[in-house]
Order: sequence, then C-alpha cells, then structure tokens
Amino acid sequence: MLILNKTAGVFFKPSRRKIYEFLGSFHFHPGKLFLHKLVLGIETSCDDTAAAVVDEAGNVLGEAIHSQTEVHLKTGGIIPPVAQQLHRENIQRIVQEALSASEVSPSELSAIATTIKPGLALSLGVGLSFSLQLVDQFKKPFIPIHHMEAHALTIRLTNKVEFPFLVLLISGGHCLLALVRGVSDFLLLGKSLDIAPGDMLDKVARRLSLIKHPECSTMSGGKAIEHLAKQGNRLHFDFQPPMQRAKNCDFSFSGLQHVIDKMIMQKEKEEGVEQGQILSSAADIAAAVQHTVACHIAKRTHRAILFCMQRGLLQPSSAVLVVSGGVASNLYIRKALEIVTNAAQCTLLCPPARLCTDNGIMVAWNGVERLRAGLGILHNTEGIRYEPKCPLGVDISKEVGEAAIKVPRLKMKI
Ligand code: KG4
Ligand code: ZN
Repeated sequence: MLILNKTAGVFFKPSRRKIYEFLGSFHFHPGKLFLHKLVLGIETSCDDTAAAVVDEAGNVLGEAIHSQTEVHLKTGGIIPPVAQQLHRENIQRIVQEALSASEVSPSELSAIATTIKPGLALSLGVGLSFSLQLVDQFKKPFIPIHHMEAHALTIRLTNKVEFPFLVLLISGGHCLLALVRGVSDFLLLGKSLDIAPGDMLDKVARRLSLIKHPECSTMSGGKAIEHLAKQGNRLHFDFQPPMQRAKNCDFSFSGLQHVIDKMIMQKEKEEGVEQGQILSSAADIAAAVQHTVACHIAKRTHRAILFCMQRGLLQPSSAVLVVSGGVASNLYIRKALEIVTNAAQCTLLCPPARLCTDNGIMVAWNGVERLRAGLGILHNTEGIRYEPKCPLGVDISKEVGEAAIKVPRLKMKI
C-alpha cells in the first residue's frame, strides 16, 4: 500500500507485506475477463482529487472524487499549500475507491494516466509522485496528461464526435478556443489575455459576499451567480462586453471585473450597506454580469466558427462546437452559445455537467485515447516532471486576429 508519511509529507516505499495487503483489499474475480484495455486516471491539477477506471470502449468502471471547494470557499480562494495537503490526505483513499468500485486490481490495468500539466505546482506534484509510485510497484506504462486536452476530448467518451471539431474551454483557470484535429493535435485560436471567466465570476461572487446568502453558501462562485441571476433583472445594470473592437478570438475579463467592483461599491453607498453584507440588488448584478460574460464568450466563439469555416478547417456540413470546463455547466452561457451555433449552422455539444468540471474520468479517457493512438505512452518515467504552465497546441491566434472577421450581430434573447 502506498502510505503517506504525514510528518515528512512524502510517500515512502511500502514493504512487500504492505503491497500484498493493498492487493488483498480488492475483490478478485478469478473468472473475470476484461476484453478491453483498462486505464486508471488520476487528477490533482487544482482543487479536486479525482480518480477513475475507464475501459477502451469508454465504459466508466469506477470513479471517486474529493472536492476541496468547501475549504477554499471559506479561505476565499485556493491556497496552494492547503490544496497540496488535502490532496495528500485524500489521494490514496480516492484511488483505492475508484479501483474498488471498478473491481479492477492494479495488476489488471493497461496503463496509469495522470494530469501533469498545466495546474498548481504543489497540487500536480502530489498526483505525479503518487502515480509514479504505483507505476513502479505494478510495473505499468505511464501516460502523462495535459489537463486541457483531457477536458477537450471528454466529449468523445459520451458522443460520437470525429476530428476535427472546435472546442471552447471555460473554467476557473482557463479560457480558450481551439481546433481539435487529433488526439494531440490542437490549433489555439484564442485565449484569455488576463483571467478566466470562472475566476472572474468567483471574484464577483466573493465581492457580493454570496457565501453568506442562505441559498448559495455551498456553491462555487460561478454556480452562485447562475443561481442568483435567475431571480434578478439584468436590465437594471448595463455592463459592456469587453474587447468589442478587437476582431480576434481572445478574451478579457479583468477590466469588466473592475467595472463591476466599482458598481458594487457605488451600490453599497446608495443602499447604505457595509462591504461584506448582501446588497438588495445582488441578484440584478448577478444577472447582468452573467449576461455580459455570456455575450462576450458567444461573440468570440462565433468568430472562431466563422474563421474555421472560411479557412476550410471545419466543414459547414459537419461543424461541431464542444463546450467544456466548469463554466460550461452554466445553462445561460450555453443558451447564448446555442444562439450562435444555430446562426452558424453548427452542432453544439456539451459533456454532462459532472464531466465538465475536473474529474478522473476525463484523464483516464485521455489515457485510453492515447493508448489507442499509440501517443505518449512511457515505459520509463525517468526525468518526468510536472509543468505548471503549458500552452495548448500551436498558437495561431495572431493569424485569427489578422483575418479580422466581422461577426454578424445576433439578438441575445435568452
Ligand atoms: O473546470 P473546473 O472545475 O476547474 C478548473 O478551473 O479547471 O471549473 C471551476 C470553475 C469555477 O470558477 C466555478 O465558479 C465555475 O467553474 N463554475 C461555474 C458554474 N459551475 C462552476 N461558472 C458558471 N456557472 C456555473 N454553473
Ligand atoms: Zn479543469
């Protein structure tokens, strides 16, 4: 069994007896025969400790996840050493739970796939060192996974989607538009120049003290904004979508966040409310913020679709837009994107909500895709390192901007 030495904060190599105990903790089915390759996926890039076993046909045999959201909500954001400690405390249990649920023993695995980039250094380190111990103990191939590639390819687990397709990844740490041409062949069309939309929504939710709102206290910032927005009137506030003159597919959210901050301060003065108390206009602000974010994301995505069609990178008859990442679970933003895809005659696909946020399934599935394609399977893990920063694919965002495609105005009646 892999044991976390809490005082030293490192994993130590277990004795042979401990390994037998670990193996003994699984139910073996001597008659059981797995026809497909099996991959264990491990995800610790941010604040979720997650693991899953997925087979070659895309069947999820077992999964487990431990979310740190509640702890980080209380501290007002992710504190990396806290995230690292929580990953250390939970990784063994989560991997064991995923394996037990799958009734697959480690020796039956075809490979172990783990997110090694991009993400928080301290978090990535926990997943990588735990995985390397497993790889070493059970003599399995190791498949290093790019977190954003895993998000992008998840749709191929749930739907029959052929390459190429367009992907919009919107989460707390990432915001990008890319053309997916193959398992490890991505063209980056645009990205956020500052913060990601989820990060911005989290900051606005914090500034509005939504954690104190009885209906939102356990929700992530983005989810709290979506929830409250349903009770508000967006027309009470007028925030302008960012970068309206830049005819590219890049995004920006920090300027908008600054404008919203100023508006909240003004409202606090008007309502005679101290910072930290909930404004009576919080729901209206949430609705207006959500609408502006949705319009900004929709416009950039529309341009990306048009660019890909003009360049012959996507065929109008079969064009698919996949939206994933934590913010993709926002139904208002999805509806805005639906307006765009209807106008551009493109199919919109989103993985189910639980696969939009971080999970072990997407990592295991990316491992399966790589195994099938014979890409990036390591039999020797010497020198393998995690990479906190790592771009996605080949960056052609400058070329996209130079094309300066004018996007037709659409009525965003959501
Ligand atoms: O993909 P994810 O779990 O983690 C990464 O950032 O990689 O995304 C988490 C982000 C958070 O910023 C959270 O506020 C946002 O996704 N989020 C939402 C919703 N649910 C989660 N944003 C908008 N609407 C939602 N329903
Ligand atoms: Zn993510």
